[in-house]
Amino acid sequence: MSEAVTTSSDTLVELTDVRKSYFSGRIETPVLHGINLTMAAGDFVAIMGQSGSGKSTLMNILGCLDTPTKGEYRLAGHAVKSLNPAALAGLRNRTLGFVFQSFNLLKRMSVLDNVALPLLYARVPRAQARERAQAQLVKVGLGELGKRQPNQLSGGQQQRAAIARALVGDPPLVLADEPTGNLDTRTSTDIMNLLTTLNRDRGQSIILVTHEPDIAAYAKRLVRLKDGLVLYDGPAREGLAQMQSDLHFEAQSERAQDTSGQTQHNEVRA
Ligand SMILES: Nc1ncnc2c1ncn2[C@@H]1O[C@H](COP(=O)(O)OP(=O)(O)OP(=O)(O)O)[C@@H](O)[C@H]1O
Ligand SMILES: [Mg+2]
Repeated sequence: MSEAVTTSSDTLVELTDVRKSYFSGRIETPVLHGINLTMAAGDFVAIMGQSGSGKSTLMNILGCLDTPTKGEYRLAGHAVKSLNPAALAGLRNRTLGFVFQSFNLLKRMSVLDNVALPLLYARVPRAQARERAQAQLVKVGLGELGKRQPNQLSGGQQQRAAIARALVGDPPLVLADEPTGNLDTRTSTDIMNLLTTLNRDRGQSIILVTHEPDIAAYAKRLVRLKDGLVLYDGPAREGLAQMQSDLHFEAQSERAQDTSGQTQHNEVRA
């Protein structure tokens, strides 16, 4: 039996005790301390956690842009670390689409050519790539704007173009690191509705990092990170409610500390 079929075909992502440290010379800074995460095709996961908790580090590993220091990552049934660079590039191209906070569209290229780019990397002939890119632009509501340069689009339109680029090769998994981080509320709602539709109607799996509970609420599942560990992994609704009560509790205990500080202070003064 080939290695590729040792996991269920529905399991898209499987992280087993994934650890990640950054090294500066011989100084090790551990960031991820043993992450276990399994994701089936069709899921929609929001990742939350304080700044520095390791969300982007985890996304880089999920996107095969970086490798774990320890532990195993299987993507679409493939043990990522066993792949040679060419096989890894192929797997990334077939399996993943990326959406970034800063859109990352290439400035000197038309919007249409930006969207066609992943197909050109996958050696699809140019005319066919452009045709598919145009169809994808229509799906995100930018059918008329393909000839423009990215800087001639609004922020929301640029993010739609970036989503079109992420989706043009029809990847089973879309990775989005704070895709609404640079957008206003109304445009964010638009983008989230678009992602939700893709997940529901096309079965595209999504992993999205956000700081905003309102954005995470679009997901089916919430994964909360704290100091490089999974603090919660379950239904988004319950997880968000729990998070709110945690924050409430923290605010209360901070207030209590402030008040007791105040009392002591007064006592000293008295
Ligand atoms: N290339 C790097 N070299 C060294 N340390 C790094 C590197 N990238 C990230 N770190 C450190 O790892 C920790 C986690 O960073 P990461 O970017 O994963 O956090 P994050 O949860 O995405 O935060 P944010 O919400 O601010 O984007 C931080 O302490 C950060 O300083
Ligand atoms: Mg980050």
